[in-house]
Amino acid sequence: MIRRQRSTLSVPGHSEKMLKKAFELAADVVMLDMEDSVPLEAKSAARELVTAALKNVENWNGGISVRVNSVDTPYCFRDVIEVAQAAPAKIDSIVLPKVDSAGDVHFLSRLLDGIEAETGTQTPIAIDASIESAIGIENIAEIASAPRVRSLIFGIADYSASIGARLSSISGHGENEEEMYPGHRWNFAMSKIVQTAKAHNLLAIDAPYGSFRDLQGLVKSAKIASALGFDGKWAIHPGQIETINGVFSPSQEEIDRANRVLAASKAALGGAAAIDGRMIDKATVRLAQKLIDSI
Ligand code: COA
Ligand code: MG
Repeated sequence: MIRRQRSTLSVPGHSEKMLKKAFELAADVVMLDMEDSVPLEAKSAARELVTAALKNVENWNGGISVRVNSVDTPYCFRDVIEVAQAAPAKIDSIVLPKVDSAGDVHFLSRLLDGIEAETGTQTPIAIDASIESAIGIENIAEIASAPRVRSLIFGIADYSASIGARLSSISGHGENEEEMYPGHRWNFAMSKIVQTAKAHNLLAIDAPYGSFRDLQGLVKSAKIASALGFDGKWAIHPGQIETINGVFSPSQEEIDRANRVLAASKAALGGAAAIDGRMIDKATVRLAQKLIDSI
């Protein structure tokens, strides 16, 4: 079950070793990947290994997602059918990459309708829609309204290729960006994703930071995402999980302050009050309550 989604560890589906290790780590969600971390010749092996890993997983308290290939490939339908038929109760969500329109999500949702009816699955498998193209951004509100969608993901590398922007590296936002553009280049796309996700009561999840030995860069990238309203970020390496969980968790100081805001507001019977020389009103109280609820 997915309780919170600060970190999502992407695990190459053709690596038996990594599939085993993933469930010994502290990611909130493990995402078994059959898409871009898997070479074409290993697509079928990845399906089998992912299915076996799902069947074998026990005593795992976090969430489990599976990333299938995009709907325009020869792999997608078989990925979904084989994996979801074999272990439907183990999968919390399917990550659908390169979602360009709501139709992509409807296709997957219909396929899951059939599989769930056949297997008698009680809890429906959710869909995480990865927005990775200019057209995906254009159609984002319809995508967010499509059935089963629980989160929108920002796929920065493919998005950047789609709009013809240069990536300073494959690492995603935050690395060497200052030399390329004064300001934060990804602000528009990221804010659009957050705004749409929140308008539809979905989570917003940020892409991974590829330079996995650079923890300082990761902190910066995760903090930008968190400041913009993202709920979590992908990890591609075990060494990134703790850092991501830390950035997306409120600090003790923030928790204490939120509790003081709630207490002061209660004392003022919900009206305006002051703490530390700053005014607090209903909006401040809502923010404080949201922070406490997220723990
Ligand atoms: N999931 C689970 N285990 C992982 C892992 C992952 N994503 N990445 C590394 N590990 C394991 C390694 O197997 C190794 O295990 P060991 O200590 O038992 O030998 C340990 O963590 C340390 O790994 P390290 O040697 O530092 O890295 P590596 O060279 O083995 O792997 C990458 C580096 C980038 C190839 C690897 O992290 C990876 O494939 N990441 C996922 C990429 C991905 O999913 N991309 C698509 C998402 S956008
Ligand atoms: Mg991608």
